[in-house]
Amino acid sequence: MILLTGCDLNFWKMQGHQTTMVASGPVAASQLSLFYVTCWVTFVIFVIVGAVLAYATVKFKARSDADEHAEPPAQGHGNPMVEIALIAASVFSLVIIAVPTLRGIWYTHDVPEAQAANAYNITATGYQWWFKFEYPEKIDGGAALVSGNELVIPAGRPVRIQLRTTDVIHSFWVPKLAGKVDMIPNRGNFLWLQADEPGYFWGQCAEYCGDSHAVMRFRVVALAPIEFAAWVAHQKEPARSVAAAAGATAGPRPQLATFKKNEYGFSEKWSDDPSVNPLKNWLDQQKPAATEDAALIAEGKALFTTKTCLACHSVRGHTGAFGWAPDLTHIGARTTIAGGLLENTPAQLARWISHPEQVKPGNKMWALGYSDTGMKIKVSDTEAVALAAYLTSLK
Ligand code: CUA
Repeated sequence: MILLTGCDLNFWKMQGHQTTMVASGPVAASQLSLFYVTCWVTFVIFVIVGAVLAYATVKFKARSDADEHAEPPAQGHGNPMVEIALIAASVFSLVIIAVPTLRGIWYTHDVPEAQAANAYNITATGYQWWFKFEYPEKIDGGAALVSGNELVIPAGRPVRIQLRTTDVIHSFWVPKLAGKVDMIPNRGNFLWLQADEPGYFWGQCAEYCGDSHAVMRFRVVALAPIEFAAWVAHQKEPARSVAAAAGATAGPRPQLATFKKNEYGFSEKWSDDPSVNPLKNWLDQQKPAATEDAALIAEGKALFTTKTCLACHSVRGHTGAFGWAPDLTHIGARTTIAGGLLENTPAQLARWISHPEQVKPGNKMWALGYSDTGMKIKVSDTEAVALAAYLTSLK
């Protein structure tokens, strides 16, 4: 406990991506300080009760045969002073916890009034098993700007997140920024959070919601105000197009990597090692690859239609209009795919496209498109490589 409140969280393995022991914003800090208050109060009670118990055990233990067979001493029945003192001490302990608890409940409920006018409003919707984010900015045509699985927010500014779900109960949780709040069918819920500094944070659905609940993840990327404004402006643009020269043919196709079922999908770029800078990796992901095979990308773009991907996904400016599944307009600029489960690389994209059921059991892409009850789409390895090249180009 004493060491817990000390600094060496690394020693105690408490610095992971989803630790609540590191607070990166005021809501998480308020919750963490309340945790420590409760810990200290219970720690003091533990020490006092433990000391009395130890004293009584040593002082009154039988020391001889005669002791063991002696009559028990005269039994007392209550001491008003002791009882009143114990009640007073219990009430006092509860008050110590209750005052900051109530203050914390009011503080974390909604953005403090003084900052309310500055709050940025986003709607997050839970789906089995991914998150959709709707921004207040409108794209051409008046619809809201939407994104999936990566929530980009302005750092140093309160963000109020409306919580919705289209199916079952999910729970929205970014451990380093704020405690979890449920997304409940037919009921509006919300929370607020704020990242003090630009950073990259891990989020997780925290309410059991079906087969792939454990891998229903997301990320929060906090950017400085200027970078955030630039990101929003770019997201509002339609999908990037890579022009292929007339008559060009695709170069040698990259070999499709092989993966085992349930194989881990993240590289050391996302390790717990504090020297790794995931925000820098996210920024790198925004840039187009140095070498792109325009003909291969064109082939993937055509496959996006012929393989009926467009029936569920939109690539704004290219194709797809229904868009109940994740919007892919700028998917190439995200660091994660498959609900935050896999790193967004061409190899992992091809893996996810060709074997969704092995990556995420029960997912809709498999159930609706690939399974025996669905459209029975078949994506060959070479097609998966072309589709991955196309999606990767959508920066
Ligand atoms: Cu969504 Cu668990």
